[in-house]
Amino acid sequence: MPAAVIVGLQWGDEGKGKITDFIAGEADANVRFQGGANAGHTVDVGNQQFKFHQVPSGMLHRGVYGIIADGSVVDPPELLGEIEGLKKRGFSVSKLFISDRAHIVMPYHKQLDGAEETLRGTAAIGTTRKGIGPCYADKHSRIGFRMGDLLDVSGLREKIDFVARIKNAYASAIGVDVRIDADELYSEMVSYSEALRSHIADTPSLINGMMARRKRLLFEGAHGIMLDIDHGNYPFVTSSNTVSGDVYSSAGLSPRYGIKTIGILKAYSTRVGSGPFPTELSDSVGEHLALKGMEVGTTTGRRRRCGWLDLFAARYAVMLSGVNEIVLTKLDVLSGIDRLKVAVGYSVNGKRLSQYPSSLKDLMSAQPVYREFRGWDDQIDEGIVMYRQLPAEARRYVEFIEKFLRVRVRIVSVGHSRDSTILRGSASFF
Ligand code: IMP
Repeated sequence: MPAAVIVGLQWGDEGKGKITDFIAGEADANVRFQGGANAGHTVDVGNQQFKFHQVPSGMLHRGVYGIIADGSVVDPPELLGEIEGLKKRGFSVSKLFISDRAHIVMPYHKQLDGAEETLRGTAAIGTTRKGIGPCYADKHSRIGFRMGDLLDVSGLREKIDFVARIKNAYASAIGVDVRIDADELYSEMVSYSEALRSHIADTPSLINGMMARRKRLLFEGAHGIMLDIDHGNYPFVTSSNTVSGDVYSSAGLSPRYGIKTIGILKAYSTRVGSGPFPTELSDSVGEHLALKGMEVGTTTGRRRRCGWLDLFAARYAVMLSGVNEIVLTKLDVLSGIDRLKVAVGYSVNGKRLSQYPSSLKDLMSAQPVYREFRGWDDQIDEGIVMYRQLPAEARRYVEFIEKFLRVRVRIVSVGHSRDSTILRGSASFF
């Protein structure tokens, strides 16, 4: 298959950046199709570390096109910062294309994100405050700005005037201190127009054209399936669809093309922000996972909440995204834990659930049903290349995951670098 999509099977931070970089070496293009600067993908190459928020993580490979497609939201100052950072380190961004249909995160979206979170009080979502929710809300209210608007600066002036009226009225109605100065905003947007114009393109034509020529496209999902706006733990979710099927609507990929789904699963669970987390640990094991796994948010620097692997949630994510292969990350972090637990179900009010629940109330009171495993003491050497070199207990853990999810674990990742990646089976992902 010439196309593959990478999705996170948990609440984000599964290690998608590393795997995207790993697979992008055999791709012609790497496409981000949803989300924006709220995502944080980390890639380690040699002794250098790269943190991507909007630029597709595969762009470290020379010659690979990077595409930011229609369903993404673009934060121009943050994107320009990332582009500059890459250029300074000697990487070319001449093959970076941004959809003219992608929406722009405006400065007031970020202000409103913070202000609305404050108004929510104890019901705050714990957003990244990157303006994602307000930007997608304006897109759906049809008062958003798109990257294509930067190509027509005279039309932009008119649009800013009427949108400023609406947003200023909204801000004063909810009593928040946000005021748009139309002249200032216009000059800011003109500067983005000059800086980004050469990257703006009709990306669905580019994507479908490449598919027709049998090029290899790697779509890179952001966040995680449990944060999907429709299927995740609403309202503790992000504002875009994160499931694999979103590639078709958000990137404009024609459904005539099949796509392979690669699901990324971390060997334990983490979550940033608020929301239900039945397997959360507040004991020394949780501390072990946070410290050894260096569980600090790439985008916000917040410490992530940690817990046991939740296979009941992962099975739901696998179903939603039709996962063909799994990449299991950070298995090395579990070394040194005596007994390991994995959630294989939930019970609510003493009753075992047959399906993953949609109700927040059920999720908040769910008690995980655990299966226990013997852990392993030995540290897993980052240099291991063969699956059989893993401790027997670690292999048992991996094989239980495969059996429970009914999907093969194709890669086991045991460290940050490109080299600490154990491949099972053929080297090609397409
Ligand atoms: P937003 O996407 O900034 O609106 O945040 C909504 C929720 O999604 C919050 O709980 C965030 O912490 C979470 N979130 C958004 N993006 C990511 C990500 O890339 N990794 C982990 N959590 C994320």
